[in-house]
Amino acid sequence: MMDTSRLMFRDGLMDGMRILVTGGGTGLGLEMTEAFLKLGAAVHICGRRQGKVQEAAETLMARHGGKVVAHGCDIRDPQAIADMVDAIWDEGGALTGVVNNAAGNFVSRTEDLSINGFNAISDIVFRGTFYVTHEIGKRLIAEGRSASFLSILTTWIWNGGPFTVPSAMSKSAINTMTQSLATEWGRYGLRFNAIAPGLFPTEGMSARLSPGGRQDERSERNNPMGRHGEMHELANLAVFLMGPGAEWVNGQTIAIDGAGYQANGGNFYQALSPLDDEEWETMRAMIKGTNARDKAERTT
Ligand code: HXC
Repeated sequence: MMDTSRLMFRDGLMDGMRILVTGGGTGLGLEMTEAFLKLGAAVHICGRRQGKVQEAAETLMARHGGKVVAHGCDIRDPQAIADMVDAIWDEGGALTGVVNNAAGNFVSRTEDLSINGFNAISDIVFRGTFYVTHEIGKRLIAEGRSASFLSILTTWIWNGGPFTVPSAMSKSAINTMTQSLATEWGRYGLRFNAIAPGLFPTEGMSARLSPGGRQDERSERNNPMGRHGEMHELANLAVFLMGPGAEWVNGQTIAIDGAGYQANGGNFYQALSPLDDEEWETMRAMIKGTNARDKAERTT
């Protein structure tokens, strides 16, 4: 978890806000949840591993007080989303913000992908993000309430993501959703922005995008600022976009990557192009091991 003394905002900034963070029990979602909570928001988090989200909620409340409510929910399932949103509304009324953070990804040569592999990623990132946005957006429009939506993308939306094609395609589509709904739903007081992070290593990401640490090390060395992102930096940007005071920011996707994308493309082209069949086989086995371990903990 981050050092919350490095948040640039004052305590109480987000008092009265109610935010859903999908995938909020782990990784970047957990860090943003902690920042929102620390600044006064009530936060709902969801994930496929009920135990993980519950544990995260308890840890955060023990650390900061306030309210974090955990939901076991697979965003690939529209009915599960509707049930979760009912529960959120029943618990305390309308949300004031949604962070579309839940994602799935793994590195693979595109010719090695099965249709199931493509769908596993695109059903989460492309379809699932739309389902969540659509379900909550409809309710907010019907009730005449304003809100901020934030989607976590990647810089690959601008230049492509070799070896992560289903993720790059899906996140590009969510970038288009951000721009489209910022204009279509602006009249309802709903605004849509996105963050395109460079590498902020997390357990789930490193295990699937950099098994063995190979790409992580290289991207750190090649970044113009010589390092990866730090969690408080991402959290500060997320608070700026979700908090009060800059509501006219709408329809924007902001990179936070130390200019890695301008310097070297910010994707895996250089690191993964040289790999041979054997190296891919080793990585595939490591990634599938992680997937199986995660799946064993899932309740939805
Ligand atoms: C080839 C693979 C594979 C691999 C899985 N598959 N891993 N194919 N190479 N390494 C195939 C499987 O063989 C199967 O196809 C299909 O994908 C579905 O696999 P499951 O394990 O059953 O999928 P599922 O349990 O639904 O899990 C979804 C997942 C998994 C996307 C595969 O990775 C996941 O749950 N990820 C969540 C966390 C995560 O990915 N975090 C990182 C996000 S980072 P067959 O044909 O065999 O049935 C990110 C952006 C980072 O998004 C940006 C950095 C700059």
